[in-house]
This record gives sequence, C-alpha cells and structure tokens, in this order.
Amino acid sequence: MEISCLKSEVGLVNTEALIINVFEGVEVPGGATGSIDTLIGGKIQRLISSGEITGKKNEITIIHTFGEFEFERVIICGLGKQEKFNYNSIRQIMAITMRQLRKIKVKNVATICHGAGIGGLDPKLCALAITEGALLGTYQFSKYKNTSTSETIESLEIIENDDQKIQTINDGINEGVVLSESTIIARDLGNEPGNILPPRELADRTKAFSNLIGLNCTILDKSEIQKLSMGGILGVSAGSHEEPRLIVMEHLGNPNSTQKIALCGKGITFDTGGISLKPPLNMGTMKGDMAGAAAVIGAMIAIKKLNLPINVLGVVASAENMPGGAAMRPGDIITMMNGTHVEVDNTDAEGRLVLGDAIEYSKRQGSTSIIDVATLTGAAIVALGNDSAAVMGNNQELIDNLIATSEVTGEQYWQLPIFDNYRSQLDSIYADMKNTGGQPAGSITAGKFIQEFVGDTPWIHLDIAGMARVNSTKDYKVAGHTGFAVRSLVSLIDTLSR
Ligand code: BES
Ligand code: MN
Ligand code: ZN
Repeated sequence: MEISCLKSEVGLVNTEALIINVFEGVEVPGGATGSIDTLIGGKIQRLISSGEITGKKNEITIIHTFGEFEFERVIICGLGKQEKFNYNSIRQIMAITMRQLRKIKVKNVATICHGAGIGGLDPKLCALAITEGALLGTYQFSKYKNTSTSETIESLEIIENDDQKIQTINDGINEGVVLSESTIIARDLGNEPGNILPPRELADRTKAFSNLIGLNCTILDKSEIQKLSMGGILGVSAGSHEEPRLIVMEHLGNPNSTQKIALCGKGITFDTGGISLKPPLNMGTMKGDMAGAAAVIGAMIAIKKLNLPINVLGVVASAENMPGGAAMRPGDIITMMNGTHVEVDNTDAEGRLVLGDAIEYSKRQGSTSIIDVATLTGAAIVALGNDSAAVMGNNQELIDNLIATSEVTGEQYWQLPIFDNYRSQLDSIYADMKNTGGQPAGSITAGKFIQEFVGDTPWIHLDIAGMARVNSTKDYKVAGHTGFAVRSLVSLIDTLSR
C-alpha cells in the first residue's frame, strides 16, 4: 500500500472511498465532516438524528454517491467519546475501516487526518498512527495458503489543505512506514513455524535484513558460543539437532557518547520444554517463543532506518529447546558465561538461561544499560492477562520512560516489584542458584534470575509472554503474532536519545 499526503480541499478529492469521522454524542458535525455533510445535503446530520450514526467507537457507516461527487463513497467512522480519544483510537479505526474497505474490493482510499483537527492531537503523530493502523491492520501472513486470493488496497491518501501541516504529515507517514515495516518483520518471524525458522535461519534472515540497510550484524555460531563458554545457550540447545546462534547487531548513532544501550532478546525458535516436557495443548504456539528476539531485530532495523542519534547494541540468543538424547536433565548443573553455576531445576525455564549469557555478552561489549525482552513466563499472563506486558528492573527512571511511551504507542506495560527478598526462592543446595523459584510470583523470580547477570547496570526487563500473539484479529492486531514491543522499544530509545 502506498501512503501519501495529498494537498486538497476535502470535498474535491477523487477517490473510491473518503474516510471522515464523528465523535460520540455529536449532534451537528463540524470540521471536515461538517463540510462534507453540507456538500452532500445534510445526509450525515439526518443519519445522526435518526440514530443510525452514533459516533460510537469503531462504528462504520458507508454512504454511496454514485457519481454525484468526485468521491464514490463517504465512510463515517465513529471515534468514541472525545475525552477518551487518543492515538490508539486512530490506529484502531483505520485498521477496522481499511479491512472493511478491502473486503468490498476498494483499491484507492483517502482519509482526513483524524485527530489533527477537532481532536486536538499532534498532526505528525496522527499521520503516524493512521499509517500504522492501515499497514498493521491489513497485514496478512498467507505464504502457506495456496488458495489465497485476498484483495489488497493499493493507495491511501491523507488529505490536508494547510501547507504548514503537509510536511509534518509527510514526516509522520515516513516514520509510520518504518515502524510498521519493522513490526511486520517481527510478525513474519513470529508466524514462521519452528521447522522453517530454527536459530540458523533466524540468524540468516537477520543478517540479510541488516545487509539491506547497512546495519552492522555479526552471527556467532556454535563453535564461537563454545569459545565464549556460554553454558546457558549451550545447555538449552543440547537436546536439539539445530545449533544455537548469537545474533549481534550494532548501531553507533552517537560516536561522541560513551553510552551504549543493549537490547537483549530471547530467541527460542521452539520451546517444547525440553525433558521437563510441556503438555500438548497449544504447544504449537511455542514457535513464537522468539518474540523477544523478533522485537529486538525489528527495533534495531527501525533504529537504523530512523538513524537515531544514540548507540544501541542488539543481542539475540537463539536456541531450540528440545528433549533429544543429549538434552539437559533436571538436576544438571551448568556454568554460565559469567561463571555462575546454575542448577537446572526445570528445563522449561530455558529463556532465563539464554538471556543470562546474552546479558553477560552485552556487558563485555561495553553496554551501559540493558533492556531485555522475552516471552518468559506463563505467570505474566496469569498476573496481567493479554492486554499488558510486565516490566520490572533496577532503574525507576527507565521504567517510567518505558511506561510513558504507551500514550503514543498503545502498547501497555504494568510494573511488578523486584524486591531483594524474592531472590531466596532461587537458592540451590548445590549451586549458586536454581533456574526456578516455585509457583509464587513466577514472573518476579524469573526477573530476579536475570538480575543476577545484570548486576548494577541500569536495566529493565520486559516479560511479553501474554502480548506476543492474539488468537483472533482485534483492532490493528491481526490473528497470529503481533510484533509487540518493537514500537515501544523504538519509542524508548528515541526518548533516551534526546
Ligand atoms: N516460553 C515459556 C513461557 C510462556 C508461556 C510464553 C506461555 C508464552 C505463553 C517459558 O519458557 C516457560 O516455559 N516458562 C515456565 C517457567 C517455569 C518452568 C518456571 C512457565 O511459565 O511455566
Ligand atoms: Mn520454557
Ligand atoms: Zn520459553
């Protein structure tokens, strides 16, 4: 889909579908919607009076003009209550409307810049959200469907007549395209099955994406991982025929700064649980246990394309967790890259093992702060459900900065405590610690495990287990992998670069 800004009076736009909007409870439409209503003889006003148009969120009303005007259809979207309206509402209405228009085979669409008028929001961020809603809401992963005959929308124009706003809107579109394309890369990686995307393939694809845009990318194979004594990654991959990979990306956007932020992603391309085998129900969803890695890869690509003035290191620890003959056993003691001995109480608590090594590696590469992202615990889903990810860490400023990105990104986080006394749940009789902390506070003890490798480096940990995939299409999320956290990582890095 081509997205562009068109300078025009809204009533003169030549298009198959012109999207306008109305807030809930409005009796007389104003702004662009008001002028279209006047042009078409008050039809919108009449539908409001009769109760057919209410302005409720996600309501779509189509009025056909059959050649009477330049625009073949007017699409009136409900924005919901004005006091609840935000950038996420824009993404949602665009996603829902574009899917509906695709279904009725519309190819070319025009829209007003929702939010930038009566809504009172920042025009650049409105254009960005329109772009994201349109691109992410119409995303499809259909490469394995021979019979896929799905229609696509070819173009979307954002209409603006004010010269001063046009450049701003174009900036928003460009940024929105970069962020959406990066999220789509993450979605595609998450949607690929385990047989197609083992660690070597995740590494090769990341290398190929990086080469296209000049992002520095180095792949460490099994022998190099052995040389670095990464006992966590080696232990997790021991039960699989597929060798592990460490994927390292680097963007040095501010050579004058000594600061370097590490993004560390959990890249388990399939998690059977290992010898502590998972039950069969929904085990297939564990092909997405590399969603943290996908978020880091997507974010690094966006950070490079936007050329953010900051130094960022992306480290993905990738392995397949299988119960093969050489697999780790419960009770085994492994030695992590930093020398910590870990008693493997449960081979299904594998994410923290690969992350511990990724974090130690990032520190040796000179990272001054660390953000790790992982589909780490089922307990995060029990605690927070599927509408918010867990965040914890040792640096409140970083946590606050992350949570603040939600306003623009729509990706929600809730902070969990990481009190020192939870560490005792990881005490082991035989080694420095165990890899599990029992039933209580499972997400927090997973965080405590990771904290051992972080030490005093400023750090936040994002447990995205509940956010990485959705069962059915909802708003701008399409059934399957969501690409969650790409957006918030880029936003956070952008904040930190200012
Ligand atoms: N990948 C899982 C966590 C997960 C569960 C992600 C459901 C998404 C949906 C992780 O490796 C895991 O198995 N965690 C265990 C830890 C336990 C053994 C301490 C869990 O949550 O049960
Ligand atoms: Mn597991
Ligand atoms: Zn896992």
